[in-house]
Amino acid sequence: MLIRRPADVRPSEITPPELYASRRRFLGGALALATASVAPALFADTGPAGASLNYRHNAELSSSEPPNSWQDVTSYNNYYEFGTDKADPAERAGRLKVQPWSVAIGGEAEQRGSVPLEDLLKPHALEERIYRLRCVEAWSMAVPWVGIPLGEALKRFKPTSRAKYVAFTTLKDPAQMPGQRWPVLDWPYTEGLRIDEAMHPLAILAVGLYGRVLPNQNGAPLRLVVPWKYGFKSIKAIVRIDFTEQMPATAWNRAAAGEYGFYANVNPSVDHPRWSQKTERRIGAGAFAPRQPTQLFNGYAQVAELYRGMDLRRDF
Ligand code: MTE
Repeated sequence: MLIRRPADVRPSEITPPELYASRRRFLGGALALATASVAPALFADTGPAGASLNYRHNAELSSSEPPNSWQDVTSYNNYYEFGTDKADPAERAGRLKVQPWSVAIGGEAEQRGSVPLEDLLKPHALEERIYRLRCVEAWSMAVPWVGIPLGEALKRFKPTSRAKYVAFTTLKDPAQMPGQRWPVLDWPYTEGLRIDEAMHPLAILAVGLYGRVLPNQNGAPLRLVVPWKYGFKSIKAIVRIDFTEQMPATAWNRAAAGEYGFYANVNPSVDHPRWSQKTERRIGAGAFAPRQPTQLFNGYAQVAELYRGMDLRRDF
C-alpha cells in the first residue's frame, strides 16, 4: 500500500462532540417517531450527504474518542477501484450505481442464492457504533458507523459445520470502477475472516456513517467493518459472501503475502516489513500532532480469546 506523508493530510477539524451529540439526539427523537421499516428509510430522499437512517446508538461498544469529522471520513479514503490517491474515491465513486443491490450467498450454507440488500437488512435493527479505524499505513480515525452485527446476518443463511471461513467479494465492474482497468490488484477485491471472527459481536456490516446512508467512497451500499484488524480487511461494495472450508485468498495477501497476512490483526509488535506499526498518525490532528502508540487489537482487547494459543508473529 502506498504510504502518504504528513504533507498529504488535509488538516480538518474534529466535529465538536457536543454538536454531534445534539444532532444525534435530534435524529434519535425524530426517527423514534418514524414507524417505517429500515429499508424504505434507507433509500429515501438521498441528498448530498445521504438519507437519514433509523438507528440506536450503541454506547457500550463505542469508542470514547471523538469521531473524526464527516469531511475527514469521506474525503481521505482507500478504495483502489477508484484510484490510489486518498482524494480519488470522493471524486470518482459518486457515479457507482448502488441501487438496486443484491448479495450472492454461496458455499457451505443451507440457504444460498441472491438476496436483495433490503431483505438482508430487514430483520435487523440498525446500530451506530463509533469504532477506531486503524489503517495498515499507520494512520487512524474514529468513525461513527451505522450497521448490523455481521454474525446475526450470517446465521440466517445457516452455515454448515464445514463452514470454517467466510469470504467476501467486491463488485467487479471496470465500466463503473475505473481503477479496475489497471492491474493494481488482482480484481475483484476479496477478503475473508475465520468463522468465529465473523461471528464476534464487534464485526459489523455497515450501511451508513454519521447517521446517514454510506457515501459511495466509504463502500456503499454495504461494507464490512472489523475494528480490531487493519482497515484493508473492511471490504467495500460487497456483492458476494461465501462460506468456505478452506482459508480464502484475499486481495492484499495475493498481491504481497509477506506484507499483508490473512489475520491482519492490529499489533504494535509486528511491524510491516517496510515500516513500523508501533505508532500511528491520527487523521485530522494536524501535521505536528504527536503520533499515538498503536494498541494491540486496536484497543479491542475483548477479541484476544479468538487467538489464544496462536503465534501472532507467524499468523500476522
Ligand atoms: N475495499 C475495496 N473494495 N477496495 C479497497 O481498495 N481499501 C481498504 C478497505 N476496503 C479497500 C477496501 C483499506 S486499505 C482501508 S484502510 C479501508 O477500506 C478504508 O476505508 P475508508 O475509506 O472508509 O476509510
